[in-house]
Amino acid sequence: MTRKAYRSGLLASALALSAAAATAHEARPVGPSSPTQATTPTAADRRAAETERQMRVDERTVLTHGLWAIPLIPKVQIPSEAVLGAGYIAGIPRLGIPALLETDASLGVSYIANLRNDGATALPSATAMGATWNTDLIRRGGAMIAGEARAKGFNVLLGGGINLMRDPRNGRTFEYFGEDPLHSGLLGAAAITGVQSQHVMSTVKHFALNAQETGRHLVDGRIADDALRMSDLLAFELAIERGQPGAVMCAYNRVNGAPACGSDYLLNRVLKQDWRYPGFVMSDWGSVDAVDFALAGLDQQSGAQIDKQVFFGKPLAEAAAQDPAYAARVADMNRRILRSIYAHPPVKQPIDFAANGAVARAVEDEGIVLLHNPKALLPLSKDVRSIVVIGGYADAGVLSGGGSTQVQPEGGPAVSLPMGGEGLLAKYNNQTYHGTAPLAAIRAIAPQAKVTFVDGRYPAEAAAAAKAAEVAIVFATQWMAEGADVPDLSLPNGQDALISTVAGANPKTVVVLETGGPVLMPWSDRTGAVLEAWYGGARGGDAIAATLFGDVNPSGRLPVTFPASVDQLPRPALPYAGMVDRDFAAGFAAGTRYPIDYDIEGADVGYRWFARKKLTPLFPFGFGLSYTSFDHGRVTLMGGERPRATVSIRNTGARAGSEVAQLYLVSTPAGPTRRLAGFAKVAVQPGATATVTIPIEPRLLARSSGGRWTMPAGRYGFALGRSATDLGTVVTIDLPARQWR
Ligand code: BGC
Repeated sequence: MTRKAYRSGLLASALALSAAAATAHEARPVGPSSPTQATTPTAADRRAAETERQMRVDERTVLTHGLWAIPLIPKVQIPSEAVLGAGYIAGIPRLGIPALLETDASLGVSYIANLRNDGATALPSATAMGATWNTDLIRRGGAMIAGEARAKGFNVLLGGGINLMRDPRNGRTFEYFGEDPLHSGLLGAAAITGVQSQHVMSTVKHFALNAQETGRHLVDGRIADDALRMSDLLAFELAIERGQPGAVMCAYNRVNGAPACGSDYLLNRVLKQDWRYPGFVMSDWGSVDAVDFALAGLDQQSGAQIDKQVFFGKPLAEAAAQDPAYAARVADMNRRILRSIYAHPPVKQPIDFAANGAVARAVEDEGIVLLHNPKALLPLSKDVRSIVVIGGYADAGVLSGGGSTQVQPEGGPAVSLPMGGEGLLAKYNNQTYHGTAPLAAIRAIAPQAKVTFVDGRYPAEAAAAAKAAEVAIVFATQWMAEGADVPDLSLPNGQDALISTVAGANPKTVVVLETGGPVLMPWSDRTGAVLEAWYGGARGGDAIAATLFGDVNPSGRLPVTFPASVDQLPRPALPYAGMVDRDFAAGFAAGTRYPIDYDIEGADVGYRWFARKKLTPLFPFGFGLSYTSFDHGRVTLMGGERPRATVSIRNTGARAGSEVAQLYLVSTPAGPTRRLAGFAKVAVQPGATATVTIPIEPRLLARSSGGRWTMPAGRYGFALGRSATDLGTVVTIDLPARQWR
């Protein structure tokens, strides 16, 4: 694994790649795009077309490229109207077109390299958001971030990311919602809707198949069209259709030979033609190799100073002057960008940090997953006499993920550990703890308990403290960051040994995991309880303490499968593990290619792979315990244009709680299958029964075939699941054949 600063990697590899770019076109775009605009032009479409007609020749490439708004790269002057952050696209004052001021913001308004010194509210990681299964909450989260972004002067959010987790070692796992296309698509749509409700443009990313960070500029995901459309692309299709983001960001990696940002297949055919996406495609930073990416459907070159040149400036203007295909494309690029600008006019408003912190808290409350609690050690009694809190900087805050999504809180981070590395930005490559501290929150919630803290560096010391206390709570962390994958699924820095030793000294040991995604738990049987708290955001410590003591009843359900070993993964060895960007670039220039075979699992990502291979994971997708219990009634199915299921959920325990009703498709006329077909979260009082209606997304019942969805006539079987592997009674319905695009 390389632990270099992701940005320096980005810059170095972008420059190296540009050098190789002259030979880099294996899959050239086939021709000009003929995108199908949304069928009914909106006011924004009409205004965009009108403005585009008025553009002078010298104005026609102003909107098509922009800068990385970071003053660290020599020779690039950042205009004074830019807000330092991720991106800046100049406007055209003569035509009243505002500049695009872009910030990274999947988890909160972020910045890198100490660019500014303002703070923002951090939501928990996207994986924690995924664990809430609560679209309404995610929509509120998006609106919260957008409100803060607007108050800071931004009008475009570069988030959220909805790549599917094909490998839990992906260093950006924490930036994504999970492994299932319906779940990620619906949560992604909710985040987009929330952002755009504040008149800030949302960007969904990274389109597509950006499934690992190792070699991210050059690895080439190989996968059949149908499999891709039924998995990663389906998440985007749903999020885009329902959320209607102003922009889509294409990915660094290649897909079936072509760079994602220069892929005629992904951009022109799938996105713009098949899905009729009317907005614009911006590149990821440092991912454009040539002007002809425009013909493949790319509309805007972002962060252009780290590409070999500003292809979408002068070279694009020259191409447009000579070639009608380019001229048509430039007109279309402008219209697409303009329509998104006009659909989201900025409006200013101040930041209410208290209210925004409450949103972050609500997300973490619902995102924490109780994984293990065999003797009901949790919830802890508030009368507990003594507690030792061990490790994980629990005295300071909660962990956050590194890279472009790194949010800086007001007043700066609680702990910032330099992670080293080489390059321009390595000194900013820090493991950051922020938010509320679990230790203080535990003391506040159980004031009569004697609560001590041990940092956990020495297992023997921690074990002695654990032995002397009634309860031990170990905080275990796994830091992930953009730009580097993790080498395996173990907890780093000897934490597995720490937990085993502590649990050996005191069986009343609770482990609180703060991880980017799945980890192995060789010690789980020895512990009394395990909570997965992810990266907890601005109020993480409070949410963890409230869950430990039962003020919050955990309702999170895993949005990803926790494997029992990396041997269960489609690729037990992470492709090209250990290679650094420089080597990828040198190899590429010398003719080496870096394919990754995603056809191994195809559309069977995550739990579907485990079902296909009959593998037993450590914890399945959808799993999560509660302090109460729920009975599921019989599922009733309804067909028609909008198929749906109804089920009653009864709270049979003594506490109020929320259940996630997960409806799985288990058979089609073609045979057995396993797919999440719909879900709904519901809060139920003790003894009460709630009736839940679960809409069934028809695309989940169909197969993709050459860009069309096909459902054969016949019998379809469904079951309500407590997870993807714990399914209730199968009920069936006969459905007619259907075919649609
Ligand atoms: C990341 C994007 C991000 C962009 C701008 C890239 O390195 O892949 O997710 O939006 O930088 O900061």
